[in-house]
Amino acid sequence: MTNISPKNEQKPETPVTPEEEYLFTSLRARTWDEFAGQTQVKHAFQIAIKAAKKRKEAIEHILLYGPPGLGKTTLAHLIGDEMGVNVRVTSGPAIERAGDLAAILTNLEPRDVLFIDEIHRLNKIVEETLYPAMEDFALDIVIGKGPSARTLRLDLPPFTIIGATTRIGLLSSPMRDRFGVITRLSFYKPKELEEILARAAKKLNIAINDQALVELSVRSRGTPRIALRLLKRVRDVAQVEGEGHITQDILTRTLTMLEVDSVGLDDSDRRLLLTIIDKFAGGPVGIETLAAALSEDVGTVEEVLEPYLMQIGFLKRTPRGRVATPIAYAHLGKAFPGTSEQKKLSL
Ligand SMILES: Nc1ncnc2c1ncn2[C@@H]1O[C@H](COP(=O)(O)OP(=O)(O)O)[C@@H](O)[C@H]1O
Ligand SMILES: [Mg+2]
Repeated sequence: MTNISPKNEQKPETPVTPEEEYLFTSLRARTWDEFAGQTQVKHAFQIAIKAAKKRKEAIEHILLYGPPGLGKTTLAHLIGDEMGVNVRVTSGPAIERAGDLAAILTNLEPRDVLFIDEIHRLNKIVEETLYPAMEDFALDIVIGKGPSARTLRLDLPPFTIIGATTRIGLLSSPMRDRFGVITRLSFYKPKELEEILARAAKKLNIAINDQALVELSVRSRGTPRIALRLLKRVRDVAQVEGEGHITQDILTRTLTMLEVDSVGLDDSDRRLLLTIIDKFAGGPVGIETLAAALSEDVGTVEEVLEPYLMQIGFLKRTPRGRVATPIAYAHLGKAFPGTSEQKKLSL
């Protein structure tokens, strides 16, 4: 794998420290066996890869989307490895000019994978240069300026773009249409996170008892990255304040310190729910209004914050806006008013 640009920016929603990046890279699932969950997604890719290999073709362009930390980058590397090709890594904001893109594409070998993280952040000009490249494996390059300018068509080897985004809503439809496969990654079940955590604990050489493992898996927001991040923090506490192994007590202490609650919600999750409950009487509140009250942009609320809250039934999207459910009230220790509005929605 080659990192093409040093300006490989991080997602604004999930700041990942270099130390963490290193840890995660060392913990990254390197084989399908190590890649837990997402069974259908995995199966579909395994078939597509086998077929492409049989035909000696590049695999179709793939778009992976879903909240941060669910395995998009990992999956892109796995697909490339299984294809037996190079995986070049870049990101939307790192490709500033069409020339940058041309330089990357002309250096690809046949069937290589170009992984573009945060593909929703490509600028318009670069995006339009990418269209013929994806469709016809050709680049149209303008040479010269003014009346003497002409276009030169450059042939490219067949290759695969794997795009990743947390914000599919920001992708233009011509861009989306150029992907042969569009795959959404979903949250992980606690059992699947247990599997990931057990393997990581082994790799990190830290003992964790079963009870703590189960507990950690339900408090990780259905997200492998969060699970691994918490594991690392608990390990620190276990080594500094405990006997070196992770017990229930050490775990509870660490999670309390990190303000991760019993169902794995963090501060921004609670803030969203409390805003709906306290400022908008539990909803319904329109997404624009809610986002403004949170000083977040609409897309981040919709595509990063809300999916998990809906998954666990704390939040509902209704035609009239967002509504906090009775279990969200109960979880936050608030009395559910049960307004006629909410009764009508049969919550
Ligand atoms: N299905 C999985 N099985 C095992 N580990 C996973 C899985 N999905 C993600 N991880 C781990 O979680 C971390 C974050 O995953 P990553 O691929 O960077 O997520 P994304 O790109 O979607 O933000 C990585 O260390 C990765 O190894
Ligand atoms: Mg990623």
